[in-house]
Amino acid sequence: MIRDFSLDIDALRGFLHLVSVSVWVGGQIVVAGLIPLLRKVDRSAGPLPEGEKSVTQKAAHRFGRISWPFFALAIITGLWSLGEVVANDEWTSSTSAWKILFFVKIALVAASGVGAWLHTRAQRAPERALFASVASLTALAALLIAASFQSSLPA
Ligand code: HEM
Repeated sequence: MIRDFSLDIDALRGFLHLVSVSVWVGGQIVVAGLIPLLRKVDRSAGPLPEGEKSVTQKAAHRFGRISWPFFALAIITGLWSLGEVVANDEWTSSTSAWKILFFVKIALVAASGVGAWLHTRAQRAPERALFASVASLTALAALLIAASFQSSLPA
């Protein structure tokens, strides 16, 4: 294996894909860690005036405004990468395992998006927690699959 360096358009594509998935996956983990603290702030602030959102709700809303555009960027850069794979004739030369796992990854990404959307719509706390878990665990599984992808030159 020869390791090398090339700062080109492919590097930009990979960079944008990795940044977007980092925000989507990492953001969910960080927000989950901050929720207990935000709840504590809300409890100590006492009852809210009519129509006023709690700090937890405001933080969740703000996170959504950051995370959804990055999720969209993950899809755009992912499609861009897929276009490169096909254009370079790498799809046909890829192993069946890679192709199957690629579709599994796409299904997990879709489940993560649907889970996150259902999480924002859920009215009851147990459903919110369930859909938040679906959103983050499926995204982590997609990340694990992508991290296991290997490429090498044909012999
Ligand atoms: C939560 C969503 C996603 C995660 C966590 C994720 C994660 C990753 C990671 C870590 C890589 C490896 C990058 C590298 O080694 O340079 C990768 C590559 C790739 N991703 Fe994603 N991805 C996501 C969404 C998508 C989507 C929606 C698509 C397609 C529609 C996609 C298509 C690809 C392709 C084709 C590659 C291979 C790029 C190459 O080797 O040139 N990804 N992904």
